[in-house]
Amino acid sequence: MNASPLLQSPSPDSYARAAAALADGRLVAFPTETVYGLGADAGADRAVAAVFAAKGRPSFNPLIVHVDDMDAADRLALLDDRAVRAMEVWWPGPLTLVLPRRTDAPLSLLVSAGLDSVALRAPAHPVARALLAASGRPIAAPSANRSGHVSPTSPLHVAEEFPDAANGALAMILAGGRCPIGLESTVLDLTGERPVILRPGSVTPEELAAAFGPVEVAGGGTGVKAPGMLASHYAPGLPVRLDADRPGPDEAFLAFGPDQFIPGGAERLNLSQNGDLHEAAANLFAMLRALDRPGRSAIAVMPIPDTGLGLAINDRLRRAAAPRSSP
Ligand code: TXA
Ligand code: MG
Repeated sequence: MNASPLLQSPSPDSYARAAAALADGRLVAFPTETVYGLGADAGADRAVAAVFAAKGRPSFNPLIVHVDDMDAADRLALLDDRAVRAMEVWWPGPLTLVLPRRTDAPLSLLVSAGLDSVALRAPAHPVARALLAASGRPIAAPSANRSGHVSPTSPLHVAEEFPDAANGALAMILAGGRCPIGLESTVLDLTGERPVILRPGSVTPEELAAAFGPVEVAGGGTGVKAPGMLASHYAPGLPVRLDADRPGPDEAFLAFGPDQFIPGGAERLNLSQNGDLHEAAANLFAMLRALDRPGRSAIAVMPIPDTGLGLAINDRLRRAAAPRSSP
């Protein structure tokens, strides 16, 4: 693929142009420590609507608003003791908090998709932080992929997702290399009496429990009660087959941990030869993309332990393998 003219190296000049594009209602893709985000001025209806249009995302699915820090969050949402605690421990970092939205928050109503809550996160990635500083505005940013696709962990993934620059809405991609974590943030709902993990991520239930006591995982993150109810998401073009100990004859293979030699030359990659879940998380989306080539019948994936970060990895894999009910 040709280097996309959208790709821009981070520099004071590109941050200034990115901030100007955001102020102008255009979109800027940028790296975070988790995945690349497709950013828009969170206060501008037209810009936020352009994000939904670019992703092909159902507008009832709300967006995460990225902020510098707790002070910025305090202007948008009501922070209770738990929220302050969570921000002190994990911000900046891969934890998104769903909080009661201030009625006077200077945010587009579209970011909350009609809910009276808002999801906030202060990213740790230096490029994301520099963009937030340059723009001086909260930035609404879902993962920079078309709705339902595999999330992008490199600038080239973003360019592949939006070959027509989202009809010109996407002004630039700040190219900050590979995302170190590689899985989306943990989404923790603090609007109710008990904290609930809405989306598992790299901040694990065990870590959250140390701060909050037992934390509920919505939808039962450790088991699939009703596979038909899983929304297809994070999905490559090929079907995904889970818990495979070896590939079938036409399958690509995604291994984890030491795997024995498999004859037949099946294309295969290993998430982590050492069985390291952090390395596996960082490789997951890039390897799913790399194995997603025509000529194979499916991507077979070895079992991943369902503990710690494995919970989030298995959440993404189950969705990638779920029946593709809608586009
Ligand atoms: O790591 C991440 O979180 C990345 C980077 C770019 O920050 N962003 C990301 O955004 O993954 P997105 O839009 O792909 O996922 C946002 C998730 C969705 O599952 C959405 O339903 C949930 O957060 N969410 C957002 N606002 C919410 C709200 N008010 N109530 C409940 N869930 C919300
Ligand atoms: Mg996403």
